[in-house]
Amino acid sequence: MSKNQFDQKSQAWSALFSEPMSDLVKRYTASVFFDKRLWQADIQGSLAHAEMLSAQNIISTQDLADIQRGMAQIADEITKGQFVWQLDLEDVHLNIEARLTQIVGDAGKRLHTGRSRNDQVATDVRLWLVSEIDLISALLNDLQKSLIEVAERNVEVILPGFTHLQVAQPVSFAHHLLAYVEMFARDAERMADVRRRTNRLPLGSAALAGTSYPLDRERVAKSLGMVDAQGQACVSQNSLDGVSDRDFAIEFTAAATLCMVHISRLSEELILWMSQNFGFVKIADRFTTGSSIMPQKKNPDVPELARGKTGRVVGHLMGLITLMKGQPLAYNKDNQEDKEPLFDTVDTLKDTLRIFSEMICGQVNAQTGQKEGGISVNAAAMEAATKKGYATATDLADYLVKKGLPFRDAHEVVAHAVKTAQSENLDLSELPLTTLQKFNPAIEKDVFECLSLVGSLNARNTLGGTAPDQVRLQIARHHARLGF
Ligand code: ARG
Repeated sequence: MSKNQFDQKSQAWSALFSEPMSDLVKRYTASVFFDKRLWQADIQGSLAHAEMLSAQNIISTQDLADIQRGMAQIADEITKGQFVWQLDLEDVHLNIEARLTQIVGDAGKRLHTGRSRNDQVATDVRLWLVSEIDLISALLNDLQKSLIEVAERNVEVILPGFTHLQVAQPVSFAHHLLAYVEMFARDAERMADVRRRTNRLPLGSAALAGTSYPLDRERVAKSLGMVDAQGQACVSQNSLDGVSDRDFAIEFTAAATLCMVHISRLSEELILWMSQNFGFVKIADRFTTGSSIMPQKKNPDVPELARGKTGRVVGHLMGLITLMKGQPLAYNKDNQEDKEPLFDTVDTLKDTLRIFSEMICGQVNAQTGQKEGGISVNAAAMEAATKKGYATATDLADYLVKKGLPFRDAHEVVAHAVKTAQSENLDLSELPLTTLQKFNPAIEKDVFECLSLVGSLNARNTLGGTAPDQVRLQIARHHARLGF
């Protein structure tokens, strides 16, 4: 710490203070080592503020020019890794402001007119989060597209649909993948919704009560892109709320948590499907690891880690909610603790979405232009597993209903048929017609059509059902919706 810099910071409030902070307290209260990540948003917010101050004749045009020149230099220094971040200057805001003043002198000291770090930090975090939400939304679209591409190749592939992890009814593998597309589409909707509430300007709230300078907050909001769909400025309407609201961070983390929960469910399925007992799919070797002791192993590390990382994002949500619950209005230093959970949530979610898109559908090979290295599907294993589980029992019951039996009676008849088939170790479709007719004389030769897996699938031809015709309609809808 140079004497000069300590003075700069302490002068911000320190005529009152008779002793400097201890090193421990400095370390405890500083946030620069994590919030320096907000530097671009901080500079962007400061430039918009300075430009407005000058337009309102609160600072001179020369001051504005100096601030712009200084900030350009600072951005350059940070980009090149030459900027010296100082713990003594506590956070990203004071670090940048102190350096600005070093470079341009008094104009740097005028930048803070009509604002406080309280509205500054709230603005920075919002600006930063909006740009991250945009990246996440794009990644969510990529993941949906990956799932849809694999679905397209597997419309006719039959998977045992489970309830209670017991074979229930046959479903198209594509239909199963498209269930996740629905989840990720809702996640994208939630992100868009959170974005709307995040993209609002607190700057101008000052410390808590607003400011006596004639600020033009709408101008600042517009220059930062904080506008609604009609292009109207979005500005917080209560200064106490503006500096202390962190709903947006909690809401974002809640949306991220749900998205991770969806990924975690998909992970769990991939892990099961890859196990020797299922053998339904394989993922490319680069997403797995071997064992240091068991040479035969290929472990699904990526899905397992995604399932595990979901826990930490859930934890961040709990952390942020708990952070808010006891805070009186307005700003409290507690809020400095919002950043690490938020940053980690963003990083975890982005990495996970990226890796899943690639794991599901592979990567484009530069030579062939084709995607390679996605999951490979063992249709025969899926079909064999479906047959083992009497997955067409409901179809037999439906068949009897069509022949005039009440459903409950049909259910009972089929239970007997399944019991017999089980004792003979046969599928329902493998029982001779004469045996089937013993359970109910209405059964005729055409029963075998409905006992086949394909027949069962085709029969579920209602909107949202698993019949291949329906699945193809859904795929077409997703193509139109996502524009690819
Ligand atoms: N580093 C602080 C934060 O992250 C900035 C705001 C500080 N304001 C204050 N009055 N101490 O929340």
